[in-house]
Amino acid sequence: MNTKDFKITPQDAMSQFWQWWDWGIVLVALFRSVEVPASVALKFLPSSASLEFAINLTTCLLLLLDIPLRFLRPAQTTRGTLHGNPARLHYLRTYFLFDLIGSLPWGFTSNHFFTQDNWSVPISFLCLLRLARVAAFSQNFVRKPSRFFIARRLTVFLLWIALVIHLLACGWIAVGGVTHGLTPGHTYIRALYWSVTTVSTTGFGDITPKTEPQMIYTMLAMILGAGLYATVVANVASLIARADSARAAFDSKIERLNTFMKYKNMPEPLQKRILGYHEYLWQTGLGHDHETLLEDLSPGLRRSVGVFLNRHIMEQIPMLRGADAAVLHRLISGVTSVVYTPGDTILHHGEPGDTMYLINRGEVEVVDPKQGVVATLGGGDYFGELALLDPDRPRLADVRAKTFCALSVIDRETFTMVLEQFPEFAAHVRKVAATRIAESDLRAGQI
Ligand code: CMP
Repeated sequence: MNTKDFKITPQDAMSQFWQWWDWGIVLVALFRSVEVPASVALKFLPSSASLEFAINLTTCLLLLLDIPLRFLRPAQTTRGTLHGNPARLHYLRTYFLFDLIGSLPWGFTSNHFFTQDNWSVPISFLCLLRLARVAAFSQNFVRKPSRFFIARRLTVFLLWIALVIHLLACGWIAVGGVTHGLTPGHTYIRALYWSVTTVSTTGFGDITPKTEPQMIYTMLAMILGAGLYATVVANVASLIARADSARAAFDSKIERLNTFMKYKNMPEPLQKRILGYHEYLWQTGLGHDHETLLEDLSPGLRRSVGVFLNRHIMEQIPMLRGADAAVLHRLISGVTSVVYTPGDTILHHGEPGDTMYLINRGEVEVVDPKQGVVATLGGGDYFGELALLDPDRPRLADVRAKTFCALSVIDRETFTMVLEQFPEFAAHVRKVAATRIAESDLRAGQI
């Protein structure tokens, strides 16, 4: 194979037109898989022959048109996209025969040429060959990473089950399982009832097989039903469990923590604080282990995510807006997030410091050891900058969390870089710092 013909391109590389076309063809194929066996089994023929003819003709033409078009377009494979001859060969080897046979006007043909014998329904089922491509399409559809991953899976899964139940009902009508003389609607409802009770392995026993073909058909339906039922239960259970996997992981963490705290005989108030901390993390969405979640991303993507996750810094300090990409990256790589619980002391008076803090959520109190609370700072405020501006100056006061606090911690190197890059911000920080120092000196003078 010419390497030029084989390109690894993402599935999205398929043009918009082909994506829509595929959706159209899948819907037409699904429509035919529902309509053709039903119309043949229920013998819609005398009352709506022209309508049936028109529907059959249009849908068949569309499906047939899809075949030559397949030869003109690239082929999506699990390894990438094939172009030119390899694409055509791939189609010939895989779905071509299924598509060709499945696209012929089976409903119409079987209704017109096999009206008197038992072959009309089984022959009309040949249109189901088109479902091979629908299956591949739906597999692709559910595998595509999406925000609605679980909803997609459940919908596709339920659609396939509904189709199987419908087809079994059509087959049941074809083997004469429903009393003659009823209207098509009543016949279909009875057949559907039989199909659902058989597939769900309920089997009330009020509609039972009378003839041998009916018995054989029922046995096959029961075997299929048992397998299908098991698959439904297993899949739905696993999808529901996955729907809230984050909460399940959180609950199991709390369970392990509870066991640990009891085992270590931790005092009740401490246990409550620990649990409260986790509850806060959960409620604010701060508990996600995004380091692990994002470690597989490409460096560029990780950088974009970092910028997005730290966007509040730009919102809080408008003077930093307009930073070029390199500065932004340096800023973000020097920032970490931390959460404090009410009453925690974040900074201790008199200690040296090499970090400053931006308050994202919550409130802190600046506490002078002699005068008590001198200021309360909230979302958007910052503290701890004085020790960074002057490395010889120890922390001027205690800073204590008044409520749960989510903070961004900025290290000395990043802070210095930001001051150098943003003179306007540096001037502002120095002005605020001078006021804070003056207030502190004033307090010291008052004592
Ligand atoms: P730093 O001295 O590094 O650590 C304690 C912090 O408390 C200090 O930086 C300031 O950010 C902050 N701080 C001190 N005094 C005040 C004040 N009067 N008002 C607001 N914040 C203050």
